[in-house]
Amino acid sequence: MSEFVMTLQRHILEQGRNYPTATGAFTRLLGDIALAAKLISHNVNKAGLLDIVGGAGGENVFGEAQQKLDVYANQAMIKSLAFGGSLCAMVSEENEDVIPLSDDYPTGKYICHFDPLDGSSNIDVNVSIGTIFSIYRRVTPEGQPVTDEDVLQPGYCQVCAGYVIYGSSTMLVYTTGAGVYGFTLDPDFGSFILSHPKIRIPTKGRIYSVNIANFNFWESGMQNYVRWSLQSERSDSRNLTNRYIGSLVADFHRNLLKGGIFVYPSDNKSESGRDGKLRLMYEANPLAFIVEQAGGSASDGHTRIMDKKPTSLHQRTPLVIGSKEDVQIVEEFIQNKRTS
Ligand code: AHG
Ligand code: MN
Ligand code: MN
Repeated sequence: MSEFVMTLQRHILEQGRNYPTATGAFTRLLGDIALAAKLISHNVNKAGLLDIVGGAGGENVFGEAQQKLDVYANQAMIKSLAFGGSLCAMVSEENEDVIPLSDDYPTGKYICHFDPLDGSSNIDVNVSIGTIFSIYRRVTPEGQPVTDEDVLQPGYCQVCAGYVIYGSSTMLVYTTGAGVYGFTLDPDFGSFILSHPKIRIPTKGRIYSVNIANFNFWESGMQNYVRWSLQSERSDSRNLTNRYIGSLVADFHRNLLKGGIFVYPSDNKSESGRDGKLRLMYEANPLAFIVEQAGGSASDGHTRIMDKKPTSLHQRTPLVIGSKEDVQIVEEFIQNKRTS
């Protein structure tokens, strides 16, 4: 291969040069995540042929019916990450408690929260889905049991965040706090190749992503925002367009590249809806780290997502995320600082 090919592994090693005390554990961990992504991609791309589509018969911690691919993806992540010796704990959307690591294998100083398969409702209709991950360093001494202090750190303590999108191609997008980089899986030789160096999100966009079916359950500020978005001659004269796929990773990825905003606000549809639907630790925080590193912002409508102090592993949060100027507009409406 004549041209220089920047693979994900090379990129991680290059970034690692900025950390002279690096032991290689982080590089190994990202390599393990890339392996899981390849395994999940392989099965997502053949889902209809492998009898791996449809309900698995079980329920996850939220009482939601698990899809077979949810279970497969969760096992792929756990088995790929459990033995590399980089982690001291894993937290998955699909597991109620912290996933223990076997004493038979070495452990490390990192903690990984993940949503193994995001957008499950889209699996059997061939719409893009994804995996989201968030990595922290433990704060208690190595060799001791992991505590809540380790697994409930605020988002600004993340050392790495990323997602994989299984779409027309499989892409892995990640940040370690030095910009956002996108890698496309080349199935011919099974490597992630740098295809989107230094991703930046436009400061404002034409796209807003909301599930309009929840309109009547939203607070008035959010309803006013949507009414403003629907006006033709808006003050900022952008002819906005609504795009909503129902897979957070797919909606987020499109807005990251093109500009725009995704909003899943609190609603009074159900008791849990008051805190929104999306989960702080393995959906909102990792995407917030990425969007801020790309020049955008993320809040719950009032507070910066990465400043929120977590109180439980699976806690939900309202989410307003995307282009900086668009997030600011939504916050003004939600905070009732403007009504049109
Ligand atoms: P998951 O499949 O991991 O449970 O996540 C689904 C989430 C997210 O991907 C998407 O944005 C949202 O659910 C869609 O929710 P609605 O169907 O209520 O709009
Ligand atoms: Mn999800
Ligand atoms: Mn999920």
